[in-house]
Amino acid sequence: MADDEPPPGIDAGIPNPARMYNYFLGGKDNFAADREAAERVMQVAPEAPALARRNRAFLRRAVRHLVAEAGIRQFVDIGTGLPTEGSVHEVAHEMDPGVRVAYVDNDPVVLAHSRALLSGTAAATVTVQGDLRRPEEILADPELRSLIDLAEPVAILLVAVVHFLSGDDKPAELVARLRESVAPGSHLVLTHVTDEERAGAARDGAAVYQQASSGITLRSREQIHELFDGFQLIEPGLVPLDDWRPDDENPLARQARRHLPTWFLCGVGHAP
Ligand SMILES: C[S@@+](CC[C@H](N)C(=O)[O-])C[C@H]1O[C@@H](n2cnc3c(N)ncnc32)[C@H](O)[C@@H]1O
Repeated sequence: MADDEPPPGIDAGIPNPARMYNYFLGGKDNFAADREAAERVMQVAPEAPALARRNRAFLRRAVRHLVAEAGIRQFVDIGTGLPTEGSVHEVAHEMDPGVRVAYVDNDPVVLAHSRALLSGTAAATVTVQGDLRRPEEILADPELRSLIDLAEPVAILLVAVVHFLSGDDKPAELVARLRESVAPGSHLVLTHVTDEERAGAARDGAAVYQQASSGITLRSREQIHELFDGFQLIEPGLVPLDDWRPDDENPLARQARRHLPTWFLCGVGHAP
């Protein structure tokens, strides 16, 4: 959106979390209001861009693990975000081009970009509009069901999205409803912002999102752990992003990363 000319129906004056995240990742799909809000977040959390990259890196490692080692062949990525390098289908198709991926988001800008990018190129993908607050509607979507077979195990990706749900949305119940709708052997991949280490700065960062189209709810480790109720967390459990099965065993690189405060927790759970 280099010319900052928004498509019809899009309010470019209100910061939007998907476009702020795109800015953190060095993307161009954002407007001035998004960039200004993202810069305000970086004043309290200068590591925000590094965290966004690490969140994506965790996602890639989790997808590789699920395809290569857990035999997962279908993904439902809820809260997809604006397309970026290393999308779920790209990572999965490196190992098996038959892996099917349904991208789901409630943001019209995300949907438009995702459809434009995927149409005609990635046969094993669909992009559908859906809201995590209405999980049954997502899983009943005819386009999604044309690709995803709920009788077979599926990986549900809730990566950096549940913190956009408030306590009133009862996120643990929403995740439980998703779990009840999928086959045994399905998996949950989840990352979530936490205030357990830097409470003050986390509150200041979250305050910026209160001016955005969607606020952020910070949660403790216990609250994030509850989201996995009914799933068995696989090793190494609920951990900071870089600690989930790192593929870089260089001790100096790992030590450098350890200086980052824990803003995010991540995990992968298995539905027995
Ligand atoms: C920070 S981005 C994360 C993108 C991607 N999952 C990642 O981690 O790289 C959050 C995405 O969740 C979407 N989102 C927020 N609330 C949602 C909801 N209730 N239902 C579906 N998508 C939602 C936003 O539109 C945005 O695209």
